Amino acid sequence: MNLEVKNENYIESLYWRYATKKFDNEKELSEEDLEKLLESVQLSASSYGLQPYEIFVIKDSETKQKLREAAWNQPQLTESSHVFVFANFRKIEEEHIDAYLDNIASSRNTSRESLKGMEDMLKNTILSLSEEEQRIWGAKQTYIALGNLLSAAAGFKIDTCPMEGFDNAKFDEILNLEEKNLTSSVIATVGYRSEEDSVQHFEKVRKNKSELYTIL
Ligand SMILES: Cc1cc2nc3c(=O)[nH]c(=O)nc-3n(C[C@H](O)[C@H](O)[C@H](O)COP(=O)(O)O)c2cc1C
Repeated sequence: MNLEVKNENYIESLYWRYATKKFDNEKELSEEDLEKLLESVQLSASSYGLQPYEIFVIKDSETKQKLREAAWNQPQLTESSHVFVFANFRKIEEEHIDAYLDNIASSRNTSRESLKGMEDMLKNTILSLSEEEQRIWGAKQTYIALGNLLSAAAGFKIDTCPMEGFDNAKFDEILNLEEKNLTSSVIATVGYRSEEDSVQHFEKVRKNKSELYTIL
């Protein structure tokens, strides 16, 4: 691994981050730290800026236990402080696009009429996708938010484990997602590493830059 830029703080935090296998279940995220994570994820980029998803942040132990049982009993679900469940829309409705355009108009103090061109473009493009295409597209957006959570948390020295190892249908049932027109796509457990987690000492395994990049 090329460590020549390792001294820069941001890169350093990316080396510090690892997919935590064992959390210290005595340590809880403070309200302040949680707020920093919520704000970081809120600022994630998304295609057109639509953010076609919602995120459930679970602290309640009973719910975490149920989720653990639907996640191949992975201990991170109950040992971490909070579980973030990213859930994209099952079907993107006209009202989602309207709400977004209303938000642009009020955030930027502009008239709704001036956004007519954008409205037509968004509705024509997104609403003509099949439900499956919308779901795939929506799920992709959640992964950008997930990536942001992992990197931001590392910057604040908060540990995470991204996870796809869970039963999506069971998660949807536990969190009543279907009735909210949502479906779970990916999750992350968040908290503080246990000193006993030997994985934190493992060397990073990554492709060489020459294998990963083609610079033209
Ligand atoms: C989308 C995604 C899903 C993952 N699912 C799981 C999982 O279910 N359980 C787990 O322990 N680790 C999971 N991981 C962690 C990866 O195994 C880990 O990120 C990878 O081996 C690289 O190691 P590092 O993140 O520690 O650098 C997942 C990672 C990603 C990005």
